[in-house]
Amino acid sequence: MDDRFDEPETDASDTLALLDPALAGSTRDFVGGAHADLRERPRAFHDWLVLRRERGLHPYARTLQGPPGPQARLAQADGSLASGLNFSSQDYLSLSTHPAVHAAATEAIQRWGVHSAGSTVLAGNVGDGDRLEQELAEHLAMPHVRLFPTGWAAGYGLLRALVGPEDHVVMDQLAHNCLHEGARAATRHVHLHRHLDVAHARTLLQRIRARGGQHGILLVTEGCFSMDADAPDLAALQALAHEFDALLAVDVAHDLGSMGPLGQGQPGLQGVHGELDIVLGSFSKTLAANGGFVACREAALAEYLRYYAPTTTFSNTLSPVQIAVVRESLRLVRSAEGLQRRDALMQTVLALRQALHWQGLEVLGQPSPIVPVLLGPTAQARRIARALPGQGLLANLVEYPAVALNRARMRLQCMAAHTPAQALEAARRLGRAIAEAAPPESVETAHMGMDTAEA
Ligand SMILES: Cc1ncc(COP(=O)(O)O)c(C=O)c1O
Repeated sequence: MDDRFDEPETDASDTLALLDPALAGSTRDFVGGAHADLRERPRAFHDWLVLRRERGLHPYARTLQGPPGPQARLAQADGSLASGLNFSSQDYLSLSTHPAVHAAATEAIQRWGVHSAGSTVLAGNVGDGDRLEQELAEHLAMPHVRLFPTGWAAGYGLLRALVGPEDHVVMDQLAHNCLHEGARAATRHVHLHRHLDVAHARTLLQRIRARGGQHGILLVTEGCFSMDADAPDLAALQALAHEFDALLAVDVAHDLGSMGPLGQGQPGLQGVHGELDIVLGSFSKTLAANGGFVACREAALAEYLRYYAPTTTFSNTLSPVQIAVVRESLRLVRSAEGLQRRDALMQTVLALRQALHWQGLEVLGQPSPIVPVLLGPTAQARRIARALPGQGLLANLVEYPAVALNRARMRLQCMAAHTPAQALEAARRLGRAIAEAAPPESVETAHMGMDTAEA
């Protein structure tokens, strides 16, 4: 059960959904409930999926037909091809196509082969993994780093390993799924604080400590929230953690490498680089490979994770190719070229946000590689997403329960290889898709009727 949002009873787009059942429902409808036949729930979900696909209203599970450049082609779930300006990929500094990164991958294949043949606990470590841990530690100004197979595995593994059943987790309600899942797997004592609300986090911590007992507390947040492009006050949260004898863990998946003059992410931007208790993240947004990490202050914790974080203990370690790609990407992130790429990225971000405002659209959060545009009720958002490829724009629809009900959004993600001109064009194309998907007049009238009836 997803308890991150205080939900209103219904989605405001119910009237539209009456016209077309493919506009109704969410993935949440297919979770839970008892079924004598375990195949029942997936079948019901599949029927709903097929209906959405047939109506062109399922813009997910698409396949990129080439590298993630500013122009791209996507094979859609219904078999059709969508092509155009690509704001749907996570490759913030465009390093996945960098010749030096490709050369590092090729060299690693020749030297080590393509596979890590075991878990880090056994003999799976590839020579350069240790060097990557050291280089990351240096970049983060944290003494110790442990690698994980993915960013998700890092978040889940950290919480599952560090937090015991009697301990407490206090977490931003919009924290990533890996953190929620890890917290729930670790303890019943999970407390969600209102998004970015330090005062609310304090109230929860006070309550926990007022009960007495010797419980550990992990305070958990993100550097840049992936659906909202906003950031918490990290210094205030770190001070709060110290005050209540808790540890703070910050997931910098989206900001590390892509933000801040030196690529130090939100910790660097906010002047707390190297000062947080635990920093974790992913390589998959900026460092051009799958993989993740946890950085901490004590060798004991880093070693503990190797043996107690199930997502690394019982999983093969990163492949030599992934390690080489991340090492080279990190070298670029820290170089003068990295600085130039971050500048280019930020110019596109600022141009896009400005152009979306000119279109009269509500852009959420602060300038970051993630540019979320609020669309509102799910049904209308699905219609807009259907119109988008026709306008030559590729971007990701995010709908409930990934975000709150009636807060569906189009998430555009920028890359260093985009130009500000492409950003202006993308905003125009989104504006045209929104106009094209405007609800039929009869529905608007019905809505007005409903509003009047309620008044
Ligand atoms: C905050 C956060 N943490 C972790 C992850 C997972 O990272 P990965 O794709 O490396 O598993 C993501 C990506 O969606 C994320 O946004």
